[in-house]
Amino acid sequence: MGDSSRIPGFYKKSIDDRRALISARAGVELRRISESLATGGMSPETADKIVENVVGIYALPFGIALNVTVNKRDVIVPMVVEEPSVIAAASNASKMIRAGGGFEAEVVNPLMISQVQLYDVGDPIEATARLEKAAEELLQMATESVPNLVARGGGPRAIEVRDIGEGSLVLHVLVDCRDAMGANLVNTIAEAIGDRAAEVANGKLGLRILSNLCDRRVVDVKCRVLSEDLVKRTDSMRPLAPGQTTPPEVDGRQVVDAIVQASRFAELDPYRAATHNKGIMNGVDAVVIATGNDFRAVEAGAHAYAARTGRYSPLAIWRRDGDDLTGEMKIPLALGTVGGTLRVHPAARLALDILGIESASDLAMVAASVGMASNLAALRALATEGIQRGHMSLHARSVATAAGAEGTEVERVASAMAERGTITVELARSELDRLRKGNAG
Ligand code: MEV
Repeated sequence: MGDSSRIPGFYKKSIDDRRALISARAGVELRRISESLATGGMSPETADKIVENVVGIYALPFGIALNVTVNKRDVIVPMVVEEPSVIAAASNASKMIRAGGGFEAEVVNPLMISQVQLYDVGDPIEATARLEKAAEELLQMATESVPNLVARGGGPRAIEVRDIGEGSLVLHVLVDCRDAMGANLVNTIAEAIGDRAAEVANGKLGLRILSNLCDRRVVDVKCRVLSEDLVKRTDSMRPLAPGQTTPPEVDGRQVVDAIVQASRFAELDPYRAATHNKGIMNGVDAVVIATGNDFRAVEAGAHAYAARTGRYSPLAIWRRDGDDLTGEMKIPLALGTVGGTLRVHPAARLALDILGIESASDLAMVAASVGMASNLAALRALATEGIQRGHMSLHARSVATAAGAEGTEVERVASAMAERGTITVELARSELDRLRKGNAG
């Protein structure tokens, strides 16, 4: 498995030290890391070439999730997210999952869907038969419209026709987009065959566009967590109360059962399923954004997939197996490692280099795994002590740092504030003062 994604104490280091560690582990030049992340990874001049009416750059934190191992391979995972705790939680949960063998992920035969809307079709049954008969011809036209994709080994693979009622048919072209997200390719194909499809169907031509419900590009992730690892003190970010050296005694099997109940809650109640899935998307989106991918497309696809049976459901579910906890998640992920923003965004290219992966499917497997880790972290916290304690601890650490605490002082000042139940910069300053005077005396 290797241990290149394990860097104990990473969170305690300075930003410069963290960059140096990532440079060494990921084999990416230190200078490149600094340069790619300067001014939020992009100059206003570059931004001006990407979108319209640019007046500046809006930056987000670029952090690193550790401990992630997918299919026995360690990966250092860049995450871009504004919400505190998300990166720490994903790293902690990945550490538990790693101890149970890591994430097992696969993407089988990933295909994007190109849609052509055909309406006012006189006889939908006849028209469907004619379109199916013309499949070879339509596929040929589709193939000729994307020569570069075909040269890379991808291209249109099959045609399907769906009757959606009211005299309307939808023609789907299933397209292997290789390492591109594929929106432009798939839209090109829909536009290339639209007129001919309408002619064959003897109907009117409507929209020609990709579907973001990419249920042929689904990542399947599984993991196992040993019950004892669920109660180990993996969350080293949390300040200990004075004198506390170990977590309170809890039986890991009780935590397994509590997480299974949390999963059942999401399976039985769409209101909970939405929040459960939001926790998954905390991890997924952070990787999607770090790598310059389209998070709106990913969000649209994930939630449409969650509702595919007609009932909105959790993307990940958790069960007990003996004493262990097992999880399984399925999520559609249309991601690219070539084209789009990646061409122009140095930080997105840096993120891919830190990950050390080239294929879109490998990236999708990592993003899905981090989503699953985020879900486990949230359920474990919610099913045991509640989410706020961990959040408050992280908040306490950042307030302690803002008050000037350094190194081990950060934990000690944060613990002191957590113990008093008040977290303010003033209190942090006075605790720091007290600590330093005590040390001096
Ligand atoms: C907060 O960003 C995400 C959670 O609400 C997810 C969940 O409830 O499972 C904690």
